[in-house]
This record gives sequence, C-alpha cells and structure tokens, in this order.
Amino acid sequence: MRVLGIESSCDETAAAVVTDQGEVLADVVASQIATHGPYGGIVPELASRAHIRAIIPVIHEALSGIPGGLAGVDAIAVTRGPGLVGSLLVGVQVAKALAWSLDKPLVGVNHLDGHLFAIYLQRRESDEPTSVPKMPHISLLVSGGHTALYRVEGFSDVVLLAQTRDDAAGEAFDKAAKLLGLGYPGGPVIDELAARGQADAFSFPLPMASRKTLDFSFSGLKTALARHVQQAGVPKDEQTLANLCASFQGIIVESLVRKSLLACEREAIDQLVITGGVAANRGLRASAKVACDKNRITLFVPPPISCTDNAAMIAMAAVHRLADGESDDLSFAVYSRDPDRRRGKFRADGTLVDHKSE
Ligand code: KG4
Ligand code: ZN
Repeated sequence: MRVLGIESSCDETAAAVVTDQGEVLADVVASQIATHGPYGGIVPELASRAHIRAIIPVIHEALSGIPGGLAGVDAIAVTRGPGLVGSLLVGVQVAKALAWSLDKPLVGVNHLDGHLFAIYLQRRESDEPTSVPKMPHISLLVSGGHTALYRVEGFSDVVLLAQTRDDAAGEAFDKAAKLLGLGYPGGPVIDELAARGQADAFSFPLPMASRKTLDFSFSGLKTALARHVQQAGVPKDEQTLANLCASFQGIIVESLVRKSLLACEREAIDQLVITGGVAANRGLRASAKVACDKNRITLFVPPPISCTDNAAMIAMAAVHRLADGESDDLSFAVYSRDPDRRRGKFRADGTLVDHKSE
C-alpha cells in the first residue's frame, strides 16, 4: 500500500509517499521561512496564500517518481489539525478533491500523531539507526506549538501525561531569537550559536524544577532573557552572544530531559522517543543520549528531517487505520486546537490524574 500524505498546518507545504511498512518513497517540503522571516513569526494570512500557491506543485513533485503517479497511490492522508485554520483548509480541501475524484480512501490525521509516529518512518538515505521503539513507550513531543509528554500505548492509543502550562519550547526558542535579533525560526540559529558557547556563562532559573510535576513552563525563562537584554542589551561580540544562547538553550534542554526521565520513572517504561521540530536540536539530542544511557533508558530520536514538519509522518500516522480498512467521511472538518488531548489534569500535589481513570 502506498499512502500520499499532505501537510499544511503551519508554514510548511508538504507532500510525501510512504508505504505501509513506513518506507519513505518521496518527501517534498516547501518552506515559507522567506515569507515570514521579515515579520519574526508566522503571519497566518500570508501562510494560507503561500500554501495555495505551493500545494499542487509540491504534490506533483512528490508523485513524479511514483510509478503511475496519482494512480499509483492507494490512499490519501491529510493533517486536519491542530494548526492554523486557513492553512489547514488548503491541504484538506485538496486532499478531499483528490480522494473524491479518484475514489480513494482519505484519512484526516492529528498533526501531533504525525510527530509521535515519525519515529517509525524508514528513510533509506538516513545514516541514523532505524531501530524503532516498542509499545508502550514515553514520547516527548517538542515543537513550535506543543511541548508535551505522552504514554504511547498503540497507534490509536496515546495518553497525555503532561504538557506546557504556557509557551512551547520551540516558541521559547523563536521568541528568544526575535529578542536577540537573530531572525525566524529561532531554534536552528540558537542551536548553531549555542554549539560555540558556554552553557554556564549566564544563569537562568530552571522552570518547574520540582519532581512533583511533569509539567513544563517556558514563559518565565523568556521573561528572564528579556529582562537580561533590557539591562545588558543584546551582546555585541559573537562569543558573548554564543554564551547567552548556550545558557538559554541549556536550561530548556535540562528541563525537557529531566521531565522526560521522570515520566519514564513514573510510568516504569525504559523507552523514550523525542520528536517534533525541537528534537532536531543538537544540544537536546546529545544531553538526552547521555542521560538515557546513564539511566538505562533506550532513546529514539528521528533524523532531523523527520523531526520538523513533513508529510511523511502524516502518511505514517494513517497507515494503521488504513490497514484496518478505516477511512474518514469526506465531510470532516479541520480543527485549530487538539480536541482530544487538552491540558492534562493534575491533583493538588502535582501528580497527574490519568484521563482514562476519570
Ligand atoms: O515541528 P515543527 O516543524 O512545527 C510545529 O509543529 O510547531 O517545529 C518548529 C519549531 C520551531 O519553533 C523551530 O524554532 C524549532 O521547531 N526548531 C528547533 C530546531 N529546529 C527547529 N529548535 C531548536 N533547535 C533546532 N535545531
Ligand atoms: Zn509540527
């Protein structure tokens, strides 16, 4: 079975073809960074228009090497949310039109499931290990819009353990980069600078340091950086700037790694997946590896190309439903927020109330 995946939830227009074994046959991503860069963040109206321009050429390119082109595809998967509604509508309407005209099954995919199951993609060109985690495992999903910990029981059984109380980690990177005049998106440029800096040069408070909670919080850290910049200004020399980035990134990484290990401990699970755009961060990948080795936890991180938004992960997330003969009615709607996995509930002592037992 070959699945055509379509992704347009945010600022990437993407199409991919993936087999039911997770093999990536085609993977095309058209980025809108140049469009949004001058604004220091995504402008929704511009994003929708850019998706409309890009979506057909991107799908064409993804199908160009597939025998039979569109006819060689057995099903279509498309991101239906969460994301920017105007952006989502572009991908969803094109996917519906294709499914209807070709009479092929269509599955609407939760974008977060895409990130969670990206680890099962098999990319031939990747030199990273292709071993995949068993179920259940813990997954840290860390992106521009989300930062959350899940217990992944199966392809359609995902339990939210905790998430950020305010900003997502990627958002913190992006806002910090804007403050420091480093452009958009902030993650890759801070990652680059941090690699040349000293993480102990500046001290920032570790958010949600208590072991009582698995929650994250990054808005206080952003405020601490803003206060620092207000008082000391943006560092003029490259080394001080690199040190500031390393210190800021170091705290985010420490928070992410600590809570992920705590989740593994609490759930008595020794497999951890880290996924989403921020999982491309070299500092996070390196720290998580050291901490997991020390705690005898097997770490799985997709290659960077599978971490940031792509359509292969959307096709992957649909494969199991399609294999079970499931598909969606063509009248399904898009959603801007995740309808199933809202903020987790916590007891007064900070421990999580499992939503299944509620
Ligand atoms: O998963 P993604 O592509 O889109 C969302 O679903 O949000 O994640 C985008 C986020 C942005 O905030 C970007 O700054 C961050 O991922 N990011 C990184 C790196 N590459 C992308 N953050 C830190 N280090 C990176 N190397
Ligand atoms: Zn994403």
